[in-house]
Amino acid sequence: MAPATAAGALAVVLVALVASTMADPSPDAVVLQALRSGLQDPSGVLKSWDPELEDPCTWFHIACDDSLRVIRIELGYSNLSGPLSPELAKLDQLQYMEFGANDFQGTIPAEFGDLKNLISMDLYNNSISGRIPASLGKLSNLKFLRLEQNRLTGPIPRELAGLTQLVVMDLSNNDLCGTIPTTGAFQNIPPSCFANNPRLRGPGQQQGGGPSDDTDC
Ligand SMILES: *[C@@H]1O[C@H](CO)[C@@H](O)[C@H](O)[C@H]1NC(C)=O
Ligand SMILES: *[C@@H]1O[C@H](CO)[C@@H](O)[C@H](O)[C@H]1NC(C)=O
Repeated sequence: MAPATAAGALAVVLVALVASTMADPSPDAVVLQALRSGLQDPSGVLKSWDPELEDPCTWFHIACDDSLRVIRIELGYSNLSGPLSPELAKLDQLQYMEFGANDFQGTIPAEFGDLKNLISMDLYNNSISGRIPASLGKLSNLKFLRLEQNRLTGPIPRELAGLTQLVVMDLSNNDLCGTIPTTGAFQNIPPSCFANNPRLRGPGQQQGGGPSDDTDC
């Protein structure tokens, strides 16, 4: 073999070796890129989310556990707009979803009920519409549910009464309707956390003229 050919062959082997040691992006990185791809980010807050990196733990606004799984997304006051990707439900180690004070739009995906390790869902002060999914009643570790200052409609799902760890639930400043549940987790929530939902009725609320049950509200 001529030396040039041998060198060429060696180069091919080396390239193949390097390529085989470069891992694919982690599933969590793929999920976060799916979120990012739907968002407008005029302030460049997500610039550090480099799709070439195999794990997202070095990206700004992300924190991981020792197994390099995402446990926190901190994107409050980030000038982001766009939908909440249902793909986020695949972050099964996620504990803190901090998306307050942006312009997220569309609905809360029912899939978010699969985030079984979630401690905090903070979506306050966005433009989120539609109903609160009953599936959120499956989030048995949830302590903080902040959905105030959005455009949520429909009744408050009774399923949320079973969230025994809940410390904060704020649903104020939306367009919810029907009656405020009074059992379970709802016993410890002050009336102010339901304020400014003109069609909502219950303890401490001004009487509205809405329907007498929740089925058609
Ligand atoms: C937020 O985005 C708008 C464009 O949509 C831009 O004009 C404004 O400067 C941004 N604000 C901040 C604080 O980056
Ligand atoms: C609501 O979010 C906007 C940014 O979208 C921010 O300018 C404003 O201060 C926030 N208001 C509160 C009460 O957090």
